[in-house]
Amino acid sequence: MTEIKEILFTREEIQKKVQELGKIISNDYKGKKLILVGILKGAVPFMADLMREIDLDLEYDFMDVSSYSGTTSVGEVRILKDISTHIEGKDVLFVEDIIDTGLTLSYLTDLFKSRAANSVAITTLLSKPKRRKIDIYVKYIGYEIEDKFVVGYGMDYNEKFRSLPYIGVLDESILHK
Ligand code: XMP
Ligand code: MG
Repeated sequence: MTEIKEILFTREEIQKKVQELGKIISNDYKGKKLILVGILKGAVPFMADLMREIDLDLEYDFMDVSSYSGTTSVGEVRILKDISTHIEGKDVLFVEDIIDTGLTLSYLTDLFKSRAANSVAITTLLSKPKRRKIDIYVKYIGYEIEDKFVVGYGMDYNEKFRSLPYIGVLDESILHK
């Protein structure tokens, strides 16, 4: 695809990474009431692959959120779709495609703690640590990347490229079109 100037992670590399994360999570959550909460829409491929690498009984659900424009450093987010599962006493693991400023997941973590989850943690396939605006603990990270705009494996540019099986860097010239 000509709009992709560089492939960062191939389908095979992603699959191996997801398997590794699945093993670690399976170990850490043994005997717990794990519920994966995926953040729409970007986390869908990661969520679908990861849950099948976790060798435990688990539940899963999805949330859809949008950041308020002109967002404050508190990271107020608007919930477009909430989960429909009770989480009281359960061990919530948020599943995200990429963590950038950290504001979205910081807000959601606090919200779920106030809903009396037994524990709240985060896994993300990608993280851009240099972009962080808030200190947030991400328990399981697939890859740390530089501040480049990436697409594929759920991630988009204007809703395009989500279905690519690999993760690539977008050619910046199309960002300004
Ligand atoms: P925070 O709150 O951590 O939000 O800033 C993370 C969300 O920002 C989006 N994001 C990206 N989406 N390519 C994308 O397709 C990127 O390089 C990128 N960086 C950040 C994404 O929606 C993520 O959920
Ligand atoms: Mg996202």
